Amino acid sequence: MSNSEKSDFFYPNEDVIAQANVSEYDKMYEYSVNDREGFWEEQAENLSWYKKWDSVLDESDAPHYKWFDGGEINIVHNAIDRHIVGPNRNKMAIIWESENGQVRNYSYNGLNREVCQFANVLKSMGVSKGDIVTIYMPQIPELVFAMLACAKIGAIHSVVYGGFSKEALSSRIDDATSRILITADGGWRRGKKVDLKSIADEAMKRTPSIEVCICVKNNELDIEMEPARDFWLHDLKSLPIASSQCETEHTDAEDPLFILYTSGTTGKPKGMLHTHGGYAVYTSTTHRMAFDIKPQDRWWCAADPGWITGHSYIVYGPLINGATIMLYEGAPNYPYPNRWWQIVEKYGINILYTSPTAIRGLMRFGDRWPKKHDLSSLRLLGSVGEPINPEAWRWYHHVIGQDKCPIIDTWWQTETGGFMICPLPITPLKPGSATKPFFGNEIGLIDEEGNETPLNEEGKLIIKNPWPGMARTIFKDKERYADLYWLKQNNNKWHYLAGDSAKIDEDGYIWVIGRMDEVLKVSGYRLGTSEVESALVSHPKVSEAAAVGLPHELKGNAIHTFVILKEGVLPDPDLEIELKAHVGAEMGKIAIPELIEFVTVLPKTRSGKIMRRVLKARALGQDEGDLSTLEE
Ligand code: PRX
Repeated sequence: MSNSEKSDFFYPNEDVIAQANVSEYDKMYEYSVNDREGFWEEQAENLSWYKKWDSVLDESDAPHYKWFDGGEINIVHNAIDRHIVGPNRNKMAIIWESENGQVRNYSYNGLNREVCQFANVLKSMGVSKGDIVTIYMPQIPELVFAMLACAKIGAIHSVVYGGFSKEALSSRIDDATSRILITADGGWRRGKKVDLKSIADEAMKRTPSIEVCICVKNNELDIEMEPARDFWLHDLKSLPIASSQCETEHTDAEDPLFILYTSGTTGKPKGMLHTHGGYAVYTSTTHRMAFDIKPQDRWWCAADPGWITGHSYIVYGPLINGATIMLYEGAPNYPYPNRWWQIVEKYGINILYTSPTAIRGLMRFGDRWPKKHDLSSLRLLGSVGEPINPEAWRWYHHVIGQDKCPIIDTWWQTETGGFMICPLPITPLKPGSATKPFFGNEIGLIDEEGNETPLNEEGKLIIKNPWPGMARTIFKDKERYADLYWLKQNNNKWHYLAGDSAKIDEDGYIWVIGRMDEVLKVSGYRLGTSEVESALVSHPKVSEAAAVGLPHELKGNAIHTFVILKEGVLPDPDLEIELKAHVGAEMGKIAIPELIEFVTVLPKTRSGKIMRRVLKARALGQDEGDLSTLEE
């Protein structure tokens, strides 16, 4: 039976409902918000703890909440160790394929061997509990092994997305003062070898802290290895020290697991810090309930492990749940636009989780590509990263999901660690709405004065409660974390300010509109306008720059920039190309502006702040709004 569409709603089909891990939402939701600690305690019981917690939620230092404090756990103990002593031992954990057809598979037992060896290599390099290891890798299994190896020994990983440039990498290494960098010679993208080690070399020149660089041989690129600093992983793995047995460190529930840098409204990216206990509970619960994961399922989250989506839903949540994970290195449409559909058919993928940008990009090539393939294994589809436009939703549902797969549109952030608003497979859907809060979460919308906004009116999205997966702080900046994200209420409770605007309709469905601040979502990637501006201003011919996001059919938003050149420099098309290349080299390709407009002045407030809102309105031909603060 197919999903039926009644009025605004798409109703899930009976097969999906019959097998859902959670068969009822309203009552369970009510319970989860009335007895939040009780609900989360029950979920925590599903995991393996070395020692149970003293308190579920400690609010004594709010908004610096603690979850499961006093408990001892290691996320890797849950993601690997407990599986290899049971029936999952020989179950496939990771299926990896690269665009050039290489395939590698790892059972849970095989994954354990790799992670233990890697952990022993790290230990032999002096890495211990609490050290921060920076990882800059292509989408290969070793990226996952490296993350898990760090967590296993209680070290903290800081993964920097492999598409970022030397500048982005070195600033993140600097902030974390990492002593160890794990990288690879390179990766593959659209038939070409992508160089990583030489970018890492440049980054290491700019930052003093790295003492050891461990390099994975992946694509045989001819690279330079600096003696006494750079080591091949395969050489280290052949040493007796790298045995395939390694004890998992007992960490406290609140011990840091990773930092992940994300763009904010001002200045440099912020290192959001997540912990072993609460994050393990939150990612595994959300994954199990929203994506209805079953022991036999093949799960494919087609994100890069270098972003939060990959951390939570390629690596940790699914492995804790003992799922079989698909990992693919390559572009969705290379060499042909059926690449993903080929993978779904070949491996019998049951659940596919991706971004609206990818869906729109594949939709562009028409139905004939997916129609070449048997996609009947798919049971559920997911979306993340930006609002999904109803047209893309319907195509995804109809052509890919063959009208039978609910679309799990998940709203969340690097800061939240896991899904905050999302349907369950049993939830009636409205295309473009992430539907209702996940269990335990109370969502509200407020206006400028902090009052709740009426139904169907836009407001700032807030979360009225703490949840176990929340980031605990911005690395090294506890105060900024509290100031940026949390609003104190009269009753001494705190509300989390997400930075997004949204509407809630008469059915209680939440419609996320987008960022309200100076954060851009370009093809689902998160970038700060200030980062793009700094990259432009670092070019010797640029005096000032402003960046805004304008709607773009494929990318969701595209970066438009306005540039004032230095005295005596004249604008010309070659300079535009040069500046785009410069931003690409400074930040990475994802940050290259769609358009560079040369201007002689920028609209500013009297205190000198660029009024991006005015630039945006002008570019869109819209009313410029209140200009009373504009400088004369
Ligand atoms: O604006 C929201 C958008 O992505 C932002 C968070 O970006 P990031 O930290 O990179 O995490 C992305 C992956 C979780 C949010 O503030 N966003 C994310 N998911 C959705 C979304 N907007 C609308 N609908 C979504 N499902």
